Amino acid sequence: MPTRNARKTPPKMPDAEANWFGHRAVSAQEKTGLVQAVFSSVAGNYDVMNDLMSGGLHRLWKDRLVRLMRPKAGQVLLDVAGGTGDVALRCYDRTQGQAHITVCDLNPEMLAVGRDKARDKGILDVPTPVGNPMRFIVGNAEKLPTDSNSVDTYSIAFGLRNVTHIDRALADAARVLRPGGRFFCMEFTSGVHPRLKPLYDRYCDVVMPLLGQYVAGDRASYEYLAESIQRFPAQEDLATRMRDAGFEQVSWQNLTGGIAVIHSGWKL
Ligand SMILES: C[S@@+](CC[C@H](N)C(=O)[O-])C[C@H]1O[C@@H](n2cnc3c(N)ncnc32)[C@H](O)[C@@H]1O
Repeated sequence: MPTRNARKTPPKMPDAEANWFGHRAVSAQEKTGLVQAVFSSVAGNYDVMNDLMSGGLHRLWKDRLVRLMRPKAGQVLLDVAGGTGDVALRCYDRTQGQAHITVCDLNPEMLAVGRDKARDKGILDVPTPVGNPMRFIVGNAEKLPTDSNSVDTYSIAFGLRNVTHIDRALADAARVLRPGGRFFCMEFTSGVHPRLKPLYDRYCDVVMPLLGQYVAGDRASYEYLAESIQRFPAQEDLATRMRDAGFEQVSWQNLTGGIAVIHSGWKL
């Protein structure tokens, strides 16, 4: 009888992450539906749980991401798997509402939380005389509802590991970016510093599901989130896949001992 500790020696499958939901083998179609259900379930608690589970670190990581992105007035910014809008709202603040920002996500419930946050900050869905609106749109990272060569900066934070076909999402990112545009991905990674890894694995295996169970009342979703982290490609693997998708000058920066990592690449 397999136990949850099976994740330490996950069964090998010839196909890539398309067939994995956490450590459970599923069809690609099933995976998309299951991921959708996870985020529908966690949407209402997502921001609180993020603070709790990361001890607020995710805020510093997102600040760092947006500093690296250097969003500017007039630019077209696309935050994919943008969920509750944290990255987009930081970009909005940094550009004083003068960039064209779109948050795209597969899950309308996550977007609804983001839209409410934007409204609370006085950012509306309609253009105002002083700034651009922030748009929230439903769409799949694998086939974005976005014109080719139209985006200056593409970001995806803690989203790519949830996408069914990572390589399709990378290819579509390359499609929508204009030549000279830049891709950023921030993710948790399996490539954590070896000294941190045992503690980190224990945290993912034990603490995250428990927090999910007792705080959000949803252990299964947080088990998936923890397991999906362990399955995500390590730094060099993702860099190779970005190059294969056509990105150039690919690099990455580890955050907090490699618990999170920011990859970037240019479409030249
Ligand atoms: C962990 S949340 C990250 C949200 C936000 N970027 C942040 O950093 O707080 C992952 C998000 O990815 C979205 N997602 C999953 N698969 C997706 C896909 N194929 N296309 C677009 N969004 C997707 C989920 O709906 C969810 O909102």
